[in-house]
Amino acid sequence: MEPPTKKVFVKTYGCQMNVYDSERMGDVLKPLGYAGTSQPEDADLIILNTCHIREKAAEKVYSELGKLRRLKRQQAKSGKEMLIAVAGCVAQAEGAEIVRREPAVDLVFGPQAYHRLPQLLARQEASGRAVIEAEFPAEDKFERLATRSAAKGVTAFITVQEGCDKFCTFCVVPYTRGSEFSRPVAQIEAEARRLAEAGVRELTLLGQNVNAYHGADATGEPTTLAGLVAALSAIDGIERLRYMTSHPRDMTDDLITAHGENPKLMPFLHLPVQAGSDRVLKAMNRGHDAEHYLRLVERIRKARPDIAMSGDFIVGFPGETDADFRATLEIVREVRYAGAFSFKYSPRPGTPAAEQPQVPEEAKLKRLHELQALIQAQQTAFNSSCVNRTLPVLIEKPGRDPHQLMGRSPYLQPVHLEGGNTLIGRIIHAHITGVGTNSLSGHYKDAA
Ligand code: 5AD
Ligand code: SF4
Repeated sequence: MEPPTKKVFVKTYGCQMNVYDSERMGDVLKPLGYAGTSQPEDADLIILNTCHIREKAAEKVYSELGKLRRLKRQQAKSGKEMLIAVAGCVAQAEGAEIVRREPAVDLVFGPQAYHRLPQLLARQEASGRAVIEAEFPAEDKFERLATRSAAKGVTAFITVQEGCDKFCTFCVVPYTRGSEFSRPVAQIEAEARRLAEAGVRELTLLGQNVNAYHGADATGEPTTLAGLVAALSAIDGIERLRYMTSHPRDMTDDLITAHGENPKLMPFLHLPVQAGSDRVLKAMNRGHDAEHYLRLVERIRKARPDIAMSGDFIVGFPGETDADFRATLEIVREVRYAGAFSFKYSPRPGTPAAEQPQVPEEAKLKRLHELQALIQAQQTAFNSSCVNRTLPVLIEKPGRDPHQLMGRSPYLQPVHLEGGNTLIGRIIHAHITGVGTNSLSGHYKDAA
């Protein structure tokens, strides 16, 4: 491998899968002599790893590209060449359109093509022209990726499943990430083992539809997510497992049972329902009604009574009436979330709902505020219920102040406490004494 002679700056937008992809792009570039930098001015190559899920996310990219065009021009004046690449879901969705809108862009490649970065860079250099790769290659990207570099932290993400075949009528994911694909168990185990050896204690298994996981086992038979969780639990050093994002239709019995039986599987579940009105759920093509979701939550809570529920909601979906929105508030009240994300519906080009008559902006905004106030109150109530309890906390890193540490509870809440750096990577018992807006504070009690 060449010693690093060049620098790459990667800016990541959107979901955790993009965070994973950005890290892996770094691994792909390393053999070409690239080291990472956090300063765009120092970079020979700048990659924007983009998100297309809502209009706002996609538009951010173009304003950033405007700034980068000016930087590129400045660098050129002082004789320095700087390449600009657009990766991720905007690249997949817009392809050549990006270069038309912003000619300073040198490379455009989608989420399924970044293992080909060396070839793409070579093509760009040879032709001196922008290179666009927005096909879904037939080969297994994960097979071709370089070995993952040693992890730097205590927690890590692993993509285990990608893509989506469900075609919710609001969503770009089936178009930008392609159809459902699951990595084989052995490939994930090998990556997890390397991470554990490098000090990782908690793994979050990622997938757009992670509980639809059906990767092949050693005999070639499909394995469920529960099977994968069981296999990864057996790895020395892996103390905690999480997964996201799940679909209510794929919440299998064995996965629910695992929540009751596997102590390494953390009691936190991100299970988006999107809306509470059956009419809206149908128009969204979610494939289940509100009752199905509520019964599911009931069964999960029976298996693991303390599970912290999280979700995603969309307000102002085309045709959503005030009564429909009330049904969303109702389902939130029934479930009692530990936290949740909520968004105004954003019409996405090429998706069926974008063609429907739209709910006025003021109504969307009003509904969003009302829903967010309810969710915030539930989150505060959940966090407050942790005060005076003793929780196992995995210590992740130093906190903001000297002698302060930051860790996470089983319910994914950040916990701030006093202690020395030797505790990093260990699970300790913390007595919880206070609540902040989005975090807890506590004291070290004893080793767990
Ligand atoms: N508009 C608003 N929110 C959306 N989401 C997905 N597509 C859209 C859209 N067009 C939300 C959903 C999903 C989360 C990742 O983003 O709630 O679960
Ligand atoms: Fe998008 Fe999730 Fe629906 Fe798939 S299941 S289309 S990823 S919202």
